[in-house]
Amino acid sequence: MDILVIGSGGREHAIVRKLKESPKVGKLYCVPGNGGIARDAICGPVGAMDKEGVLAFAREHKVDFVFVAPDDPLAAGMVDFLEEAGFPCFGPNAKAAEIESSKVFSKNLMKKYGIPTAAYEVFQGREAALAYIRQQGKYPVVIKADGLALGKGVIIAQDEGEAADALRSMMEDKVFGESGARVVVEEFLTGPEVTVLAFTDGEALCPMASSMDHKQAYDGDKGPNTGGMGTISPNPAYTEEAARRCMEEIFLPTVKAMNAEGRKFKGCLYFGLMLTPEGPKVIEYNSRFGDPEAQVVLPRLETDLVDIITAVAEERLGKIHIKWSGKASACVVMASGGYPGSYPKGLEITGLDGNGQAAGMPGVTVYHAGTRWEDGKFYTNGGRVLGLTALGDTLEDALQAAYEAVGRVAFDGAMYRRDIGRRKL
Ligand code: AMP
Ligand code: GLY
Repeated sequence: MDILVIGSGGREHAIVRKLKESPKVGKLYCVPGNGGIARDAICGPVGAMDKEGVLAFAREHKVDFVFVAPDDPLAAGMVDFLEEAGFPCFGPNAKAAEIESSKVFSKNLMKKYGIPTAAYEVFQGREAALAYIRQQGKYPVVIKADGLALGKGVIIAQDEGEAADALRSMMEDKVFGESGARVVVEEFLTGPEVTVLAFTDGEALCPMASSMDHKQAYDGDKGPNTGGMGTISPNPAYTEEAARRCMEEIFLPTVKAMNAEGRKFKGCLYFGLMLTPEGPKVIEYNSRFGDPEAQVVLPRLETDLVDIITAVAEERLGKIHIKWSGKASACVVMASGGYPGSYPKGLEITGLDGNGQAAGMPGVTVYHAGTRWEDGKFYTNGGRVLGLTALGDTLEDALQAAYEAVGRVAFDGAMYRRDIGRRKL
């Protein structure tokens, strides 16, 4: 099978690497890809949101299957468009992808079907939202932009002043664009956070190995939210009991709820969960693999990914058995100085490949998130630049190897967290 992956980040690199292991894969393409992905797949200058461009590329290269990885093209109906043109895809259609692209939709879905989540109200106007927050008088309070905001549209306000600022920047200054036209104001929950990705074909649901993201930019979970600064898998807080409850109270009810709404979800469903004192609750859904969750979960997958994605597309996931390695994995993201704010691009990266450098270390994989390859060198080309990932017999081993790899790589202003996997649960 010749497969086309859509996207250009570390997640897409992890997907490409896993597909490359499959004996069933012929040619592997990725658009637009990046400097590192181009080592593993044939990349092309087609934007992830360019439906006509992607279709033309798929036709020109006669690909057999398309894996749509990022949220925006899913929300924009890339899968609907390609399937209509006869290309089988991995990923939900636009109606199903709304579980991520509208927080208002997903919150209302959970309320309607009794899926545990934080209590909330939806607001279109800043004054009404602020009046509600004042009347509740409970801080911190969580304010979320309705639409997609690169994982950054969530503000945890510690007092009324911060809440007022957050509402102003989302609803008046429109820092997240139209995503902030409506906001969800919700109760602040506490407890360890767990990400569980799951394959589903709309009937069967197979949870993947659990993971933990580190969303804040700086050590000690301080600073602004980012797309994710590092991950570990498995998540030590995710006990068998928690897994059982999540399956019963959250995962299966979500699949059923989407069917009942006429929005059958096929692809990878991302559950962002909090294990609160009252039990597991949903913090957010995503309609795709997490980034950098994919970078720690996929290396632990022992079943051929091609078998899984074709089973999902053909709605026979219930017939296959998926195996996971007992090893642990860790990913440390190296980002550009200034991320998630503004940052420079085009800085030379050293220490990646060659003798004794990061990519050659046993058990280590370097996933490229924002890099460009030119004249024999890699240059930075995005906020998150690299995800240095390692497998180990224990989480400690994996972390040690991932950080050793980080130590071998350098570019000016490189920023990374030193405490991935060290959170007290
Ligand atoms: P989200 O983009 O919805 O995942 O939110 C980003 C981060 O904000 C989450 O990973 C949580 O750490 C935090 N967060 C979101 N909602 C809540 C909540 N209701 N209570 C506490 N923390 C939250
Ligand atoms: N790492 C969180 C996300 O992909 O949304």
